[in-house]
Amino acid sequence: MIQFSKSVNSLRTSEIRDLMGLATRPDIISFAGGMPGNELFPVEDIDEIYNSLPLDSKQTAFQYGPTPGYPPLLESLKEYLQKKGMAVKKNKLMITTGSLQAINILAKVFIDPEDVVVTENPCFIGGISAFKSYQAILHGIDLDENGINLELLKNFLRQSKSTPPKFIYLTPNFHNPAGTLYTEERKKDLVPVLQEHELLLVEDDAYGELYFDDEARKRVVPLKTLYENDLSICYTSTFSKILGPGFRLGWMLVPPEIYQKAELCKQSMDACSPNFTQVLANEFLRSGKMELYIQKMRLIYKRRKDTMAGAIRKYFPEEITWMEPKGGFYIWLKLPPKLDIMAVLKSSIEKGAVFVIGKTFDPEGKDNSHFRLAYSHTPEGKIEKGIQILGDCLKEELRLSK
Ligand SMILES: Cc1ncc(COP(=O)(O)O)c(C=O)c1O
Repeated sequence: MIQFSKSVNSLRTSEIRDLMGLATRPDIISFAGGMPGNELFPVEDIDEIYNSLPLDSKQTAFQYGPTPGYPPLLESLKEYLQKKGMAVKKNKLMITTGSLQAINILAKVFIDPEDVVVTENPCFIGGISAFKSYQAILHGIDLDENGINLELLKNFLRQSKSTPPKFIYLTPNFHNPAGTLYTEERKKDLVPVLQEHELLLVEDDAYGELYFDDEARKRVVPLKTLYENDLSICYTSTFSKILGPGFRLGWMLVPPEIYQKAELCKQSMDACSPNFTQVLANEFLRSGKMELYIQKMRLIYKRRKDTMAGAIRKYFPEEITWMEPKGGFYIWLKLPPKLDIMAVLKSSIEKGAVFVIGKTFDPEGKDNSHFRLAYSHTPEGKIEKGIQILGDCLKEELRLSK
């Protein structure tokens, strides 16, 4: 008999997978994937960059590279992070294969079976799976509109003094799936709580660049830049949302002693991240094209968000409540009691639109009182039609639930 490891057996299977299989019809309008639209990628710029590379750089691109990253990219990225106020000299930077690998490596570095990890509830599904794959016990703390609920966090930390959590994993900027942007005050109030309990913070900043206005821009400042001296912070981010997930490039900026262990882990995982895309990403950053591209993306995602928000107001029953995001990719919506979201998903897939149910993002895999819509992947022209389909399905299910 095949005997799988306990860690693999602890991974959750998803009952919506079969349904999602049906959602690959070419005509379906998808609000499911948390990814950029294909038509937005800077294909011509990258063509031009590759074609004008000298032969030895092209050869380097095909080769293995150093485990921590392609040195010129590490330098360009350090400059980029330093401009944002990151302490790049005090910390060490490592390029990873997507930021999911950075999160996975940090999980491997810290988690022994049965260790407790605190997350937000809801939480990015990739984080949940990574922590579970090392057999962590997850404790999700509810988010409110300003960030993680501090009273709940304090209570939990007080109760768990005998078995303190290994770390807390937070996404303060344009949370996936909740869209939340932490307020300055919430960040400030969080620090003494983490300090008191000497709790290490894994700060995931996958979406911080994608703010929609000036007020949001001022608020996306990472905790890593604000509270570096007060807290042990492992910061992760990615090129996936600002260049393309196909590059499979992310990074971590962490204290040196953590970096040493992380490098050992990465050596045994993939030896190095793709040199090919690191060479291209480096040229894109160096040429100044990255900043211009991100500026363009901010406008496009804002327009998509505005279109979706307008359509939700027009077509959704008013019992569905939600907050308008100030950046990022997602709108997170709360259902009235008793409404069966699985039934809505089924009928909306039949009629031509798909989204993700809330349970996917619950660390305990139970709470289905919300659902997530991503506007990032869908051109404006299709957003209104998809939301109208969903609105009809929601109204019908609401009628049945009364
Ligand atoms: C919050 C968050 N963190 C990390 C990631 C991982 O992205 P990648 O591995 O492509 O860098 C994602 C992707 O959806 C995300 O939403």
